[in-house]
Amino acid sequence: MIVWIDGRLADTGSPEGRVSPLDHALLTGDGVFETLKVCDRVPFAVTRHLRRLRRSADALGLAVLADHVLRDAMAAVVEANGVDEGRLRLTVTGGAATTLGSDRGGATPTTIVACGPMAPWPDATAVVTVPWPRNERGAIAGVKSVSYAENVVALTHARGQGAGEAIFGNTVGNLCEGTGSNVFLVLGGDLVTPPLSAGPLAGITRELLLEVSDAVEHDVPLEALAEADEAFLSSSTREVQPISMVDGRPLPSVPGPRSKEAAEAFRALVARDLDP
Ligand SMILES: Cc1ncc(COP(=O)(O)O)c(C=O)c1O
Repeated sequence: MIVWIDGRLADTGSPEGRVSPLDHALLTGDGVFETLKVCDRVPFAVTRHLRRLRRSADALGLAVLADHVLRDAMAAVVEANGVDEGRLRLTVTGGAATTLGSDRGGATPTTIVACGPMAPWPDATAVVTVPWPRNERGAIAGVKSVSYAENVVALTHARGQGAGEAIFGNTVGNLCEGTGSNVFLVLGGDLVTPPLSAGPLAGITRELLLEVSDAVEHDVPLEALAEADEAFLSSSTREVQPISMVDGRPLPSVPGPRSKEAAEAFRALVARDLDP
């Protein structure tokens, strides 16, 4: 795979295509990232992703390169890997830190762009709720940091039960998000998604769905998901993925009419504008 690291294209098999073993993201999870879907060789919703990257980086005090540099880097990596449809990852790390501890010690951030093909998601997925809460009041709540070990543990737990995604509640027992997705559900006729104050990542797909559908933001208890008339996950790579089962209990309508409507509205948006 050809990646872009700090201004240069390099093969991941070559020394130039690697980062330092002292990189602070590797040692402490000190870094931020974005995942974008590539449609027809174009990374989708670049402007929104770059905006969120800056917000995440600000929260960690990391400097981000100029937008035009990142846009050129993304185009070069898509081209170099010949990816028509796929996924692109943009990562900014704390950089090589000689302290070997939590102190970044004045390291310069490392910027990495990588791009590759993507396996299609199943048409629908079972989910399980997990017993570990998201901390909606934590220092990196809502930040797309590379500290994803909690997500790895939760997703492994879900996979062990034959489900495709794990769903977190927050510290007060309300629905929060999945390990790599936001959640929408139909309750009492309303299409609802948890507000950002509940602690989920401000998903770009979530944000766009709030603009193109009649979804509303509302706190709901975690248990409400299993009682929903229908529900779906949203993410850049999934777009809209209906939920078939919650904790082993089938939802009544898969995909339900509101999920279909949302998926169609999102597809129509992508078809008319690749940087909405
Ligand atoms: C924890 C988490 N929540 C939500 C999302 C969905 O965000 P987006 O729609 O920007 O892909 C992601 C995406 O990977 C995520 O990692």
